[in-house]
Amino acid sequence: MQKIIILDFGSQTTQLIGRRVRELDTFCEILPYNKFPVDDPTVIGVILSGSPFSVHDPEAFKVDLSQFVGRLPVLGICYGAQFISHALGGKVEKADSREYGRANLQTTDISNPLFKGFEQHSQVWMSHGDTITAIPEGYECIASTKDVKYAAFSLTPSPSRGGEGSEYSHGGETSAEQITPLPPAGGVGGGAPIFAVQFHPEVFHTLQGSLLLRNFVVDICGSRQEWSAASFVDSTVAELKETLGEDRVILGLSGGVDSSVAAVLLNKAIGHRLTCIFVDHGMLRKNEFSQVMNDYKVLGLNVIGVDASKKFFSDLAGVTDPEEKRKIIGRDFIEVFNEEARKANACAPSVVSEQTSSASLSTLHSPFKWLAQGTIYPDRIESLNITGKVIKSHHNVGGLPKEMNLQLCEPLKWLFKDEVRRVGRQLGMPEHLITRHPFPGPGLAVRILGDITPEKVRILQDADDIYIRGLREYKVKLSGEEARRVLAAGVPAAMQDGEIEVSLYDQIWQAGVVLLSSVRSVGVMGDERTYEHPVALRAVTSTDAMTADWAHLPYDFMARVSNEIINKVRGVNRVCYDISSKPPSTIEWE
Ligand code: XMP
Repeated sequence: MQKIIILDFGSQTTQLIGRRVRELDTFCEILPYNKFPVDDPTVIGVILSGSPFSVHDPEAFKVDLSQFVGRLPVLGICYGAQFISHALGGKVEKADSREYGRANLQTTDISNPLFKGFEQHSQVWMSHGDTITAIPEGYECIASTKDVKYAAFSLTPSPSRGGEGSEYSHGGETSAEQITPLPPAGGVGGGAPIFAVQFHPEVFHTLQGSLLLRNFVVDICGSRQEWSAASFVDSTVAELKETLGEDRVILGLSGGVDSSVAAVLLNKAIGHRLTCIFVDHGMLRKNEFSQVMNDYKVLGLNVIGVDASKKFFSDLAGVTDPEEKRKIIGRDFIEVFNEEARKANACAPSVVSEQTSSASLSTLHSPFKWLAQGTIYPDRIESLNITGKVIKSHHNVGGLPKEMNLQLCEPLKWLFKDEVRRVGRQLGMPEHLITRHPFPGPGLAVRILGDITPEKVRILQDADDIYIRGLREYKVKLSGEEARRVLAAGVPAAMQDGEIEVSLYDQIWQAGVVLLSSVRSVGVMGDERTYEHPVALRAVTSTDAMTADWAHLPYDFMARVSNEIINKVRGVNRVCYDISSKPPSTIEWE
């Protein structure tokens, strides 16, 4: 499959570039700046990301442009643009003042293929401390703003190779020998074009940013736009069938969207040779265990549901330290999972589908060979921090029994969250499973400040249930950036007259209630004085949970939820709303 390579120079928006490219139904990979896959014939274009560095910093990340310049279309963004200029003979200097925020393009060369369809004075988003003061020889300036002379520049040699899909690209799947030789130093003189923009087309504030990326990816690089949820399901199911053969696979379900979609996909590929384990630690949301088990059964999954709440409550008794709680829950979870895996290993799955052939029936008794996980692409991208060290790497399979000798199967490892949701829809999963908010593994245990008892969990579950139901029922109309953000997150809503209608639940990233169980405050109900616990409502907007804003929920909604909680939930007589953003606060209280 054709792909765009995004070389990461450590910008916070690199992942966003990836998501925008995928929205163009084009596969892309985000790789560290120094890991360009020179021999990969499926690459059709290269994007260089921004960076926290200046090109003049001694520790700035540098890439050998000769690996792709002239051979593949290149788009440099922000630092990427400055690096191209600096490396090919232009000049980059410290800007008089930091160029940050909205700006309007004053002159735009709309005859340039990068700006096809652009309006004059289009709004863009700048964020840089250096600025380009001279572009390399032979390049032309194609856009300026009031303060930035070289907002965009390009080298668009006359097309010489006429590849498939675009006048410049070689269309992907070319053999290494077919690659056009590099142009002379400076890039002038034939070959693939180079574009550089000092603004960020990937952020929403650049209003025609998606159009710019489309022009680059589709028109200039010649993407055939073959990456879609349907094509992903078809090719992944075929690959899984091929790789897994008659092997048995085990998977831990959490009720969340990633593990659920992974399970349904695997079920489609290998049916009941997949065994899923769903552990109830007793601190899930109200009725969640039974509802989700029911959903899984309807989806035809072979699931073992384990109520292990007694063990968890007993091991957590009297523990107040958040990290200690997490450790106990993590350890208990692995113990329960392993025990169930051992039991399931010893016997065939309890449900055997009618389609199961007699040949594959015998394989149902063989031991598990694979552990499947719902790992998604953002979990694996080797993001760079400013010291160049990897800050997020592939997460480990902690604590699994060595004697089971399992190989890892991660069918969603190339997908962003919104793509996982699209794949879930493609697989016919119910919408409430697909749009479910993220929920922490330790569950309500990290939302009860203090020690954990079944009674406190009951109070929190009741309050949380009222809040979440309320968020699902309350509809709001959104337009502009807000609407685009929600649609980009994969929420299905039809745009009408520039507006979409969604629930508050779908508008936000995550919500929950926190029980301040070691605090009591005075209240009055009827003629009675009460002395009960406060709860705090939390709701945040975010794209990746790395940063988050508190959600500006409507007052009438908050008034209604507060009333209902205090009237109906025994043990609560005060409701607060958390108005802290991340950073400096975190999403969870513990
Ligand atoms: P924080 O609180 O760090 O949360 O801003 C970021 C995201 O991670 C979730 N979270 C957890 N998920 N185990 C998990 O599986 C945990 O211990 C845990 N702590 C926080 C949180 O809900 C949010 O989505």
